[in-house]
Amino acid sequence: MQTPPSAPLSSAPNVFARKHLLGLEDLTAEEITTILDNAVGMKDVFTRDVKKVPTLRGKTVCNLFFENSTRTRTSFEIAAKRLSADVVNFNVSTSSVTKGESLLDTARTIQAMHVDMVVMRHNCPGTPKLLSERLDMAVINAGDGAHEHPTQGLLDTFTIREKKGRIEGLKVAIVGDIRHSRVARSNIWALRKLGARVALVGPSTLVQREFEGLGCEIHHNLKEGIADADVINILRIQLERQRKNLFPSIREYRLLYGITRERLKYAKPDVLIMHPGPINRGVEISQEVADGPRSAITEQVTNGIAVRMAVLYLLSLNT
Ligand code: CP
Repeated sequence: MQTPPSAPLSSAPNVFARKHLLGLEDLTAEEITTILDNAVGMKDVFTRDVKKVPTLRGKTVCNLFFENSTRTRTSFEIAAKRLSADVVNFNVSTSSVTKGESLLDTARTIQAMHVDMVVMRHNCPGTPKLLSERLDMAVINAGDGAHEHPTQGLLDTFTIREKKGRIEGLKVAIVGDIRHSRVARSNIWALRKLGARVALVGPSTLVQREFEGLGCEIHHNLKEGIADADVINILRIQLERQRKNLFPSIREYRLLYGITRERLKYAKPDVLIMHPGPINRGVEISQEVADGPRSAITEQVTNGIAVRMAVLYLLSLNT
């Protein structure tokens, strides 16, 4: 039987000296690389026979999700448990939030129970930052409105680096509803800082020219946007965040921007297909592409645990 180390670290110097993870916009390329390097060791931990290390023994992590989640909440819970932390899942629908308790009072109540880290998802951009300014607990943003989803950006970048061996110089096409996507924003920050070329592809109502200011190429024609792409990251149409119809119909969107096997010929032959989930099969991605040989969608989910273990571990050094 293997003996788990107490702290499965990267040998690289730790330049990540933060208490909170609120987004990737503020992080340097070196900080992002430190998280990715630590995630390599973490992946080794949870893919072997003994899947647990005592690194966060005695710490308590609370999942505070005000929006639905399958992947992120479960992934943070597994990541924290793999590091031997205690995990509490806060259920909004059965909490005193339904009786009118404010967000800050709810968070203060959780803090009073000596929780060390709170993983927070909220539909209002900036909510995790507000908590980080008012409370002593470490705060991790698990998605705030259309602003950022930093651990998704990190796990996507980790998956690309793992599969392609590098980030610098790659062309990554992000296709879909960029306007409403926190995943797109966090990917853009990470990929641009690490030297990738980022092409944003979709209808003009969902991919605005403002994104050029972040160093991205803008394409409203799918064939041009994914031409010679090393990676295509496909996003869901977020109907829940759209206040008006931004394209004529789902059918029309699928005809113009749906990623099918036929359309992959425009990208590089070894193009990596990614999707953060949840997937709407037959809309933004065909069944055969989602389950095909170029797809890394399942590995993204696996890598999410490694990246979240690395984030929890690195933040714990500063709390
Ligand atoms: N990718 C992602 O954030 O998925 P969930 O909404 O299921 O957490």
